[in-house]
Amino acid sequence: TRAACGIDIGGTKIAGGLVAADGTLLRQERRTSPATDTVAIERTVADLVAELAAGHDVCAVGVGAAGFVDKAGDEVMFAPNLAWRDEPMRRDLEQLTGLPVVIENDANAAAWGEFTFGAASDTDDLVMLTLGTGVGGGIVLDGELYRGGFGVAAELGHLRIERGGRPCGCGNLGCLEQYASGTALVRGTRAAAAEGAPGSEALVSAAGGDPMLITGPMVTEAAQAGDPFAVERLADMGRWLGEGVAVVAAVLDPAVVVVGGGVAAAGELVLTPAREVLAAQLTGRGYRPQLELRTAVLGGEAGMIGAADLARRRL
Ligand code: BGC
Ligand code: NA
Ligand code: ZN
Repeated sequence: TRAACGIDIGGTKIAGGLVAADGTLLRQERRTSPATDTVAIERTVADLVAELAAGHDVCAVGVGAAGFVDKAGDEVMFAPNLAWRDEPMRRDLEQLTGLPVVIENDANAAAWGEFTFGAASDTDDLVMLTLGTGVGGGIVLDGELYRGGFGVAAELGHLRIERGGRPCGCGNLGCLEQYASGTALVRGTRAAAAEGAPGSEALVSAAGGDPMLITGPMVTEAAQAGDPFAVERLADMGRWLGEGVAVVAAVLDPAVVVVGGGVAAAGELVLTPAREVLAAQLTGRGYRPQLELRTAVLGGEAGMIGAADLARRRL
């Protein structure tokens, strides 16, 4: 059987892999995402595909895109963190690559990857949350990817968890994405450190003395080394995540929720506080099983692996 290309287009990077039918990643490449230039994004994807496919027999390209993909898989209708508006991405990429292209939402693709080859292969009912530039969601019900009436199901980053809360790139206020994304973690940590929050000194010096140079990996590293300020930043994020998961549980009753994206590297530092909030807020708690909250196992590769597998299946 032939390999497929899987491409993951996020708010900050474009990652691509050549993926075998059993989900094995044969080779991978990444580029920074020209987030505001949609033409440049498509050219970058085509270059990546050409590079990955060189010397291999590739049957299709699967693309996970960080936006709202229509039900037919032709267009990216909208993206909160990229410039896509009614973007006819399938047609464009088929012309540029000369290969059949399947477009799916990035977090849906990641959910499919973790279900098929990763952290949730032991269940048929799971939800994936990706914590990165934004917060993505993916739903697998009865072993099928759930896409909704118009392709836009599982936009879980835009669950409103605070009335009148922080403004979001989608135009609403108080979306989960503004509290539990990597972007929100970094923004909040920098702001607290810049105000001289007690205990932030060590993190500021790890960033070379400038609070605005604090990064997500720096927060995770400091927290793993036991820095209480960094631990609390991740715990706060985890508690917001727990609120979102409690809402998801009320609607879908998944057996497993997989947490992926860059912030998943922090693992239990985020998941333990999330589980505590979930246990305290789950409707019917004490009289129903509590879902399992797990970290992703495919890491940053879930999206490309899932997208490649979906491309293979849909063609
Ligand atoms: C977008 C989603 C995307 C997620 C992760 C959100 O802001 O609305 O479509 O899946 O970010 O990239
Ligand atoms: Na989604
Ligand atoms: Zn939003």
